[in-house]
Amino acid sequence: MSVKNQFSKYAKDYNNHNIIQQIAAKALVRDIKGKPKNILEIGCGSGQVFKYIDWDIENYYAVDFSPSMCELHPRDKNIHINCFDFDSNDFFEFLENKKFDLVISSSAMQWSKDLKKLIKQLSNTTENINAVLFTSNTFKTIQNITDTKSPILSQENIKDAFSSIYECKFEVHNYNLEFENKKDLFDYIKKSGVSGDSSNLDFKNAKKLFKEYSLNYLEFEVIFINTVSKL
Ligand SMILES: C[S@@+](CC[C@H](N)C(=O)[O-])C[C@H]1O[C@@H](n2cnc3c(N)ncnc32)[C@H](O)[C@@H]1O
Repeated sequence: MSVKNQFSKYAKDYNNHNIIQQIAAKALVRDIKGKPKNILEIGCGSGQVFKYIDWDIENYYAVDFSPSMCELHPRDKNIHINCFDFDSNDFFEFLENKKFDLVISSSAMQWSKDLKKLIKQLSNTTENINAVLFTSNTFKTIQNITDTKSPILSQENIKDAFSSIYECKFEVHNYNLEFENKKDLFDYIKKSGVSGDSSNLDFKNAKKLFKEYSLNYLEFEVIFINTVSKL
């Protein structure tokens, strides 16, 4: 299943299966300096980030490629919701001649097909990007057991892409999320929106995983990025 379809299919469940994303979004907003008035958020989902913003905003541009996620985002006259793939030329055209005090993104940019290009395009519109991304170390024990590769970007790829345009501060956090039983644990993966295609294991691998996964928790790794200045 494509990433877009996965987010659309589980859009309604997403708000009950996104504990780590909520922690990330809250920390991301807490770290915002000043009170930026013109903000672009990419991969806005159902509006987790927007909900934590408690100052007056002039314009909030919220972008996501999943129509069902966009539908759940809070609406107001100064909120502009746009259904774009952030890797697409349509999105890059939308950015033309726009300026933002801040570009933010929480738990979304790890899906970029070309993060360097995306950051280059964003850098024409802003001096400041605050983002938090999941890294490929998320669910690392599952990948080891099933001998699969994470569908999301590695810490190194992420650091390289941001550092190609900006001087940045990076902070990596690891979280373990505990479950009472394996069924709940595996259910969480599907509905959380961080697994991409990797939750579509064939029967043999799914069985192996269920048998060999001995942890009572899921592993997550996120990286916070604050740009300091353009190079
Ligand atoms: C894990 S959710 C995070 C949503 C929200 N930012 C939050 O913190 O709860 C990731 C979001 O990124 C969106 N997304 C993933 N890849 C995207 C892309 N290429 N273009 C636009 N949105 C994308 C998904 O549709 C989804 O809503």
